Amino acid sequence: MSVNALKSGTSGGAPTLPPGAPDWVAAADNPYLQGLYAPLANELAGEVCEVEGTLPPDLEGIYLRNGPNPGFAPPNRYHWFDGDAMIHGLVIRDGRATYTNRWIETAGRLAERDAGRAIWPGLMGPFDFSLPGGPLKDTANTDLVYFNGRVLALWYHTGQPYAVDPVSLATKGRETLDGTLPFPISAHAHVDELTGEMLLFSFGERPPYMKYGVVSADGKLIHQTPIELPGPRVPHDMGFTANYSILHDLPFFHDIEILRTKKRRVATFYPDMPARFAVVPRFGSNADVRWFDAKPCYVLHIVNCWEDGDWIVMDGYRSADPKPKPDAADGELASMLAYLRLEANFYRWEFNLKTGETRERDIDDLNAEFPSINRAWGGQRTRYSYAQHIPHERTLSFKGLVKYDNQTGRREMIDYGEGVYGSEAPFAPRTGATEEDDGYLVSFTTRIGDWRSECQIFDARNIENGPICRVKLPQRLPAGFHATWIRGDQLWS
Ligand SMILES: [Fe+2]
Repeated sequence: MSVNALKSGTSGGAPTLPPGAPDWVAAADNPYLQGLYAPLANELAGEVCEVEGTLPPDLEGIYLRNGPNPGFAPPNRYHWFDGDAMIHGLVIRDGRATYTNRWIETAGRLAERDAGRAIWPGLMGPFDFSLPGGPLKDTANTDLVYFNGRVLALWYHTGQPYAVDPVSLATKGRETLDGTLPFPISAHAHVDELTGEMLLFSFGERPPYMKYGVVSADGKLIHQTPIELPGPRVPHDMGFTANYSILHDLPFFHDIEILRTKKRRVATFYPDMPARFAVVPRFGSNADVRWFDAKPCYVLHIVNCWEDGDWIVMDGYRSADPKPKPDAADGELASMLAYLRLEANFYRWEFNLKTGETRERDIDDLNAEFPSINRAWGGQRTRYSYAQHIPHERTLSFKGLVKYDNQTGRREMIDYGEGVYGSEAPFAPRTGATEEDDGYLVSFTTRIGDWRSECQIFDARNIENGPICRVKLPQRLPAGFHATWIRGDQLWS
């Protein structure tokens, strides 16, 4: 059986509908609606899960994962980024694990639920600028950040966050930061766990094209500044150190002429333009920015940043040639499939604040992305990081877990299993841990074919031995986007 047959849920005969999928999926001719990606029709609440092995007694908290799960058949061509947000949550506490999944009740989802059909056409257009909130539905389907006692769901295209209850996953509504948040924010805001502050940015299609802000530990935007860019850009992530934030101006953005004349977004790579990184003091302004040029590339996710004397060190995943390469055989889905075929490797940039010099180099050449670290070390020098191994397949998926040791240069890997695909795996510190890698990695997995889903739990100090236990989930989980771990002491102390 070919990989593509496995992933589309076929075995040479009629397509098989993965369990739990809505009936309309059977007629969907789009790989991001089939097989590993097929959405779920229902929500479960507080299901106690069977455990193979023993849950570590020193692991307590909640694993949450966001991702697209369209509530209705898409009216036009579907892009994986379009789906309504569904959160899958696993509470691990007092020796047992309970599972819940719920849609985020965004304004767009509620409008479609009331209408009984999909309203927004999605990223592949054609756009309808008369729709409330704009031509794209803010689904909040991309990231989850635990901040100031609340879970915030964020959207890749910039939106006002939605607040969600971490246990019931009930949507609490739009998060305004006590009325202080004046602009939509990107999918990746970061909490500095040493100060409790949250660092964020916004980007858009009008000057100054980017804004940057700092939110106090008690949840109010206390600093904001425009960051002037040469034109509209689509940065995805940012970095921070103890004293600085690092923002991105990357030469992979929408063709402005096509956007203006044809109202379509066509991502274009400009290989003659440098990648530019703005180093700004945490409470600095546009005038304080130090810009550093680097080799052209796109950067989806940052691993971590820190200060080393006069140097700012930034570890991340670099896409050296992000230009989509459509395969004509994919027909009208070719551009979407090409755009999502992620090629990236672990990379280090260093910026000298005294001389203005940039140094950069590959750390590894493995195709990987969706990194995680022990977030208590965010902004400080880290030795360890983790990521998802991405196979060179037709659709984007996570085949295994990777661990890097910056000190020894060693890479460890573990495959999730035959036909098994995983999820972003956050680091979950052991209760009372004081050392950086003293904890676990957690990943929701799904096996193609029998559609069994689990939460695999790894010892972060020894991932190569495989999962130390497996929590059997009560239903199939589709592939998703970002995940987070909330420590028990943050929730229940
Ligand atoms: Fe992301």
